[in-house]
Amino acid sequence: MSAPKPSTSVGKLNTGASIPLVGLGTYLSEDETGYKAVLHAIKVGYRHIDCAALYKNEDFVGRAIRDSGVPREELFVTTKVWNTQHREPAKALEESLSRLGLDYVDLFLMHWPQALRTERITDGNMITVPKREDEKPDVDTEWNYIKTWHLMQDLPASGKTKAVGVSNFSVKQLEKLLADPGSKVVPACNQVEVHPLLPQIPLYDFCKKKNIMLAAYSPLGSQKAPLLDDPVILEIAAKHKADPAQIIIGWDVKRGYVALPKSVTPSRIESNLQIVNLTDSELEKINEIHKKGEKRVVDPEWFDFEED
Ligand code: A2P
Repeated sequence: MSAPKPSTSVGKLNTGASIPLVGLGTYLSEDETGYKAVLHAIKVGYRHIDCAALYKNEDFVGRAIRDSGVPREELFVTTKVWNTQHREPAKALEESLSRLGLDYVDLFLMHWPQALRTERITDGNMITVPKREDEKPDVDTEWNYIKTWHLMQDLPASGKTKAVGVSNFSVKQLEKLLADPGSKVVPACNQVEVHPLLPQIPLYDFCKKKNIMLAAYSPLGSQKAPLLDDPVILEIAAKHKADPAQIIIGWDVKRGYVALPKSVTPSRIESNLQIVNLTDSELEKINEIHKKGEKRVVDPEWFDFEED
């Protein structure tokens, strides 16, 4: 049995850079609450913050980073290009940096493999899901994620991002991307939904084999998965005198990839960084949870997870 303690675990990206394995997720963290959450997180020891153009919080995240007083080079910051900017990721990166008020990010991700057309955007706001007349998302069928990747892979040379990667990619999509003769760079990271009810085993194995760091968003299953009440999690938590969330995040770290729990609650921000060193048999027990039935909590209407 080990009591929770602050995680200082770091992983290595295929660029050679270090990445703290526990980072703060910021989806739905907005305005002053979001600002305070990031500031608090850095104060209690987080060195990895994940945000995205879509989350509309880059300005608050950047302000909190600057106000924290922690030197920029001690922090790992990730942001993501939104689907309407697949044809212009360099411009999207510039815009993100300007909102963040930073000179560079550590990781710039393609948020989804699917590009959206921009012709129906009339107010100049690219951070949106443009709809066709039938109210369906305006998917860009003349573009694809491989073309986006070919533009993105040149971005680290600009110094404006240290590494590039993808998000919400399946094994099939990664295989296609890697097999393309124009792909010179292996994505440093694939950020996807991962938690004990969606352990992503084939993707986990594939990313490990290809040296692509997996990063788990919604690692607690958000509010929509009954993970924090799961009897196996509760039993292991009681044994370690830990919270269920600390066990789940410990499971990610034990598996060797990044976990990005989101919280705007100071006590949870703090406790989510203090994780437990699980035993192999506890890891195995948690690995069994999904067999009762897998559950995906992030399933946007404009994206088909079966599509390639
Ligand atoms: P809040 O931000 O109000 O603290 P996920 O990262 O899986 O998407 O989960 C995020 C959700 O889980 C948020 O609603 C967050 O609430 C809540 N949450 C974060 N940390 C904990 C925790 N340690 N215990 C319970 N709920 C948590």
